[in-house]
Amino acid sequence: MSLLGDTAERDYARKLRLFNAFAAPELAQAMLGLGLRDGMRLLDAGCGTGETLLRLRDTAGPHAEICGVDLSSAHVRAARETVDGSVIVLQGDLLTVPLPAASFDLIWSANTLNHLHDPVAGLRHLATLLRAHGRIAVGQSSLLPELYFAWDSRLERLTRAAVRRYYEDRYGLEECDLAGARNLLGWMHGAGLRRITSRTLVIERTAPLDHAAQEYLLEGIFRGTWGERLQPYLAPADHTALCRLCAPASPEFALRRRDFHFIQTFTLVVGEKS
Ligand SMILES: C[S@@+](CC[C@H](N)C(=O)[O-])C[C@H]1O[C@@H](n2cnc3c(N)ncnc32)[C@H](O)[C@@H]1O
Repeated sequence: MSLLGDTAERDYARKLRLFNAFAAPELAQAMLGLGLRDGMRLLDAGCGTGETLLRLRDTAGPHAEICGVDLSSAHVRAARETVDGSVIVLQGDLLTVPLPAASFDLIWSANTLNHLHDPVAGLRHLATLLRAHGRIAVGQSSLLPELYFAWDSRLERLTRAAVRRYYEDRYGLEECDLAGARNLLGWMHGAGLRRITSRTLVIERTAPLDHAAQEYLLEGIFRGTWGERLQPYLAPADHTALCRLCAPASPEFALRRRDFHFIQTFTLVVGEKS
């Protein structure tokens, strides 16, 4: 089992689909700066439901050789439905799945290394799959805390702390495990990568929200990440206040407010094999 509970049987494909639809413009923008070209060999390590595999194809060109790997059988099934037969999607642990050494021009890996018990070992292994001067692009969401409730910073802070405590209890983790990705540059240096660069994009949405934003925030965050599971970690009055903001039937529903303002970051760190 990975640090955050991933197994071959685990399935959060719906949440991955919601996030990828929601953040599609910024994810596409992040990839554009990578100089992908037709004919390149590209790997998505932790490909989830496969949207990035399609984007790699669209960005690089029709003759790029593209491969995805993911631990979860359900995510792999979803990814195979997303792509056409020219993209190979393998099910397995990215540390052990058989892939040819020194063969890829670029490896993309978003929001996945932070799920590994030893991210530096993961990066070192991925580097063995790169040809000389090949690059690894590691994407990580939310190195800065998100803005959800611009009008109630106290409840936002308490909600963030409740989520952290939920994960600590659920997976027996410490703060340093959950916040480890903040040292993404340290991970890249530790794995022996060089010419390391970093760029952070802002994912920002204001009212009125489009359909993808409404679905991701309501289903993915308000119900999926928060919901009833935060009840033990909030004072009763705070949990009631949070429920009012998150329920579409409530007059206080956050996503209907004309001052609703959401900010999240997506950081892409790129390093080259030495
Ligand atoms: C947060 S999701 C991100 C998925 C995708 N990169 C995206 O951005 O939508 C993390 C993914 O990593 C996969 N994963 C976790 N540990 C893994 C491992 N050791 N080997 C391969 N995949 C793994 C999970 O199954 C999940 O699909």
